[in-house]
Amino acid sequence: MSTTFQPVLDRIATEIDATPGRGRPADYIPALASADPNRFAMAVADLDGTVCGVGEWQHPFSTQSITKAFTLALALSLEGDELWEHVGREPSGNPFNSLVQLEYENGIPRNPFINAGALVVTDRLQKLTGDASGALRTFLRAESGNPELTFDLEIAASEAAHGDRNAALAHFMASYGNITNPVPELLDQYIRQCSIAASCGDLALAAGFLARHGIRADGSTLLTRSRAKQVNAVMLTCGTYDAAGDFAHRVGLPGKSGVGGGIIAVVPGHCTICVWSPGLDQRGNSVAGVAALDRFTTLTGLSIF
Ligand code: DON
Repeated sequence: MSTTFQPVLDRIATEIDATPGRGRPADYIPALASADPNRFAMAVADLDGTVCGVGEWQHPFSTQSITKAFTLALALSLEGDELWEHVGREPSGNPFNSLVQLEYENGIPRNPFINAGALVVTDRLQKLTGDASGALRTFLRAESGNPELTFDLEIAASEAAHGDRNAALAHFMASYGNITNPVPELLDQYIRQCSIAASCGDLALAAGFLARHGIRADGSTLLTRSRAKQVNAVMLTCGTYDAAGDFAHRVGLPGKSGVGGGIIAVVPGHCTICVWSPGLDQRGNSVAGVAALDRFTTLTGLSIF
C-alpha cells in the first residue's frame, strides 16, 4: 500500500467533513435518489498501481458517466481517428443531456462526454466488439484487479424505465445515419455501461493508463502517447460538461464526472485520483468531489498548470 498521499487525503476528508452544503443526489434515475450526500470517499493510485484512500474508498458506487472516459479510450484504440468523423471534441456549454445542438450540427454530437456523444461512442464500440458493455467490464476488471466489478442491474432497470431523453437522442442521431446498431440494442448497452458499480480504489487504478500515457497495468499499450493526450485533453475541456471551465479553474486536471457522484482525475505522468460523494450541483457534478479535488491540487501542487 502506498502511503505517499495518505496524510493529504486524511486532511481533505477532515476538511470536507467540516464543510456544510453537499448538493443533492440525482433523482431522474430513481434508484440513485436515496443516496446519502454525507458519504465521502477518495483514493489515489500511483503509476505502479499502489493505491491509498480515505473514507469508503473500497465501497462500490454507481459510476454512470465516468464510464464514458473508458469507452472513449477503448473505441479510439480500436477505431483510431475515424471515430472523430462521428463525434466532435468541442465543449458544448450545454447540460449533459441536452438535445439542442444536434439538429444544427447534423446529428454529430459536440463531444464524446455529453450523452449524445457517449451514445455514439458506445454505438461504435458495439459495432467493433459485439458487446460494448462487456468489453468495458472486462477492461475495468483487468485494470483494477477486481474480478467482482460488475453491472448493477437494479440501477440499469431504473434508468431504462426513465430513459426517454437518451432514447430521443439516439433516435434523432439514427435519423442522420450516425447510429449503426438498432436503437433499443444501443440503449441497452449504454445503460448497462453506466450501471457499472466500482469503488474509488477500482477507478483510480483503472484510469492509470491515462497517467501512464496510454500504457495498461500489464505493460501493454492501449493508446499511443498522442491518443492518451487526446483523451486527457477532451476530459479537461468537456469532462464536467457546462462546468468544465470552472472545473479547470478550480482543479486544473483532466476529469470525468458521473451523476452517481464520482469523479476521476488524472495527473499525467504522476497519479490518478477518484473521489465520490453523491450530492450534486446543478450541472450534475459532485459538490464535495470537486471541492476535494480542488483541495488536492492546491495542497500538493499537482495540477497540469
Ligand atoms: O445517461 C444518463 O443520463 C446517465 N446514465 C449518466 C449521466 C451522467 O452521469 C452525467 N454526469 N454527470
